[in-house]
Amino acid sequence: MHLLLDSGAVNEIREASSWGVIRGATTNPTLLRKAGVESITRFVSSWEPSWGTLHVEVFAADREGMVEQALRWVALGKPIAIKVPCTPEGLAACRQLAQRDIPVNVTLVFSLSQALLAAEAGATYVSPFVGRLEDHGMKGVQLVADIRNGYDRTGVPTQILAASLRNPQHVQEVALAGAHWATVPWDVLQKLFHHPLTVDGLKRFDADAAHLQD
Ligand code: E4P
Repeated sequence: MHLLLDSGAVNEIREASSWGVIRGATTNPTLLRKAGVESITRFVSSWEPSWGTLHVEVFAADREGMVEQALRWVALGKPIAIKVPCTPEGLAACRQLAQRDIPVNVTLVFSLSQALLAAEAGATYVSPFVGRLEDHGMKGVQLVADIRNGYDRTGVPTQILAASLRNPQHVQEVALAGAHWATVPWDVLQKLFHHPLTVDGLKRFDADAAHLQD
């Protein structure tokens, strides 16, 4: 399972990318606003291809507006995927973009039926929202497993990108449930590194290394 950073903050994306553990970033209007981004076009323009793929979300009300926004960002020549909502207008835009070989991530997915529709519309990625489902007392990780099962039975090529992950446990569970990708917030990515035995082991190695020459 590949990782993306769930963030609109360039400093976080740059640093996580330098660690060699992410293949890009997912954004949404909320994350970009939180990071102080004012123009999506400027944000996409400043994207470094070495950071991987940037998933950027359209916010127009209808398919024509969504496709127009997407084509404007694609024309900037960066490695991007276009996020569209799982609505009739969003999926109509997905179909049009997929026909132009533009990778589309269908977002705000909360059920297997939505994931099946996204695949039919030609989505490259589908994003089930694990944490938000659990906020409402539903089983987010199980949805990832169900989508993987449903897709595999008929050879659907759409990749599952687990989103709305709140802790390291979620990341481990969606990997075992068959997600192809997981997008993780900055704090969760840092927690993924942490293990008390690594800290303890390093302390001991450092103490012994002090008596050695390199
Ligand atoms: C990523 O593509 C999603 O927009 C994001 O993971 C949503 O996370 P949230 O539910 O924590 O807002």
